[in-house]
Amino acid sequence: MKKLSQQSYPNLRMRRLRNNKNLRSMLSETKLYSENLIQPIFVIEGKQKKQRINSLPGINRLSIDNVIKEVRKLKNNGIKAAALFPSISNKNKSSDAAESYNSNGLIQTCVKKIKDIFPEFIVITDVALDPYTSHGQDGIMNKSGNILNDETNDILVKQALSHANSGADILAPSDMMDGRIRAIRKELEKNNYHDTKILAYAAKYASNYYGPFREAVGSLKSLGKSDKKTYQMDFRNRNEALREVDLDLREGADLVMVKPAMPYLDVIMNIKTNFKVPVFAYHVSGEYLMIKSATKTKILNEKQIVLESLSCIRRAGATCILTYYALEVAKWLK
Ligand code: PBG
Repeated sequence: MKKLSQQSYPNLRMRRLRNNKNLRSMLSETKLYSENLIQPIFVIEGKQKKQRINSLPGINRLSIDNVIKEVRKLKNNGIKAAALFPSISNKNKSSDAAESYNSNGLIQTCVKKIKDIFPEFIVITDVALDPYTSHGQDGIMNKSGNILNDETNDILVKQALSHANSGADILAPSDMMDGRIRAIRKELEKNNYHDTKILAYAAKYASNYYGPFREAVGSLKSLGKSDKKTYQMDFRNRNEALREVDLDLREGADLVMVKPAMPYLDVIMNIKTNFKVPVFAYHVSGEYLMIKSATKTKILNEKQIVLESLSCIRRAGATCILTYYALEVAKWLK
């Protein structure tokens, strides 16, 4: 190891720099700001609806009018961005996910409304088919149950364009099909959306932490016993994440995401040190639920546990964090 210091105890006392709260703040290597936090929002059809999500205590599915109220709250508390996820009724689901690119669909309408009222607020949309497929997979399925890559990309491109048409700032493909970033970027350029940003879920793992989210968007039941391991990454792999990021960046991604966050800090750090791009981390639904459940007893302090967790994700190298705690944290930080 490189020699870090010429000095040693007692000339050097590490505790000297820790004995004053202001000093600790001044010297902290990592800061947590609300502007780095992104609130995921679940959108439902209808008016004046606010549905509790059993799997995500404290989080509701909101109809568009209530999404607007929520965005106002976020904005007033210093949050700059939200990520929208649809929960649509079964009658709008199909095997080809055609509803996903309906220009008057739920998400497309919601984006337009938000951008009309809050033009500066950053809207991130999920480019993925799972809320729209009758089987809950992120792609088009053939008779033997395989997810077809290129056929899925064709639909993702249409969905992405419909989001760009609605005014979305950042498109976030979360499907893990090969080549989808290149296909989406090509379509955006062709349609003069030169400034629409792509946040690639580059290192998205086939994780057991997504259960509460799947319940929230209604894909849990459709999915049944099947999994997503033929397209999402194996959680035992890290080098593979670097290849995924490299590819997505070369295909035209502006930003990359690692998901989940807390069990994957090594992946975040590795990507950050290898590619000098903003890395986003998704503190996913299962991570949220674990903290909510564990802090119910008050033996663990929720606020302190959350601030520590998110700070550590930042320390690992994440620039922004998607978290269901965003609004709560922004209030604490105020
Ligand atoms: C699917 C998608 C998932 C999440 C975001 N987008 C679940 C999945 O891949 O099955 C999970 C987010 C969370 O758990 O909070 N396109």
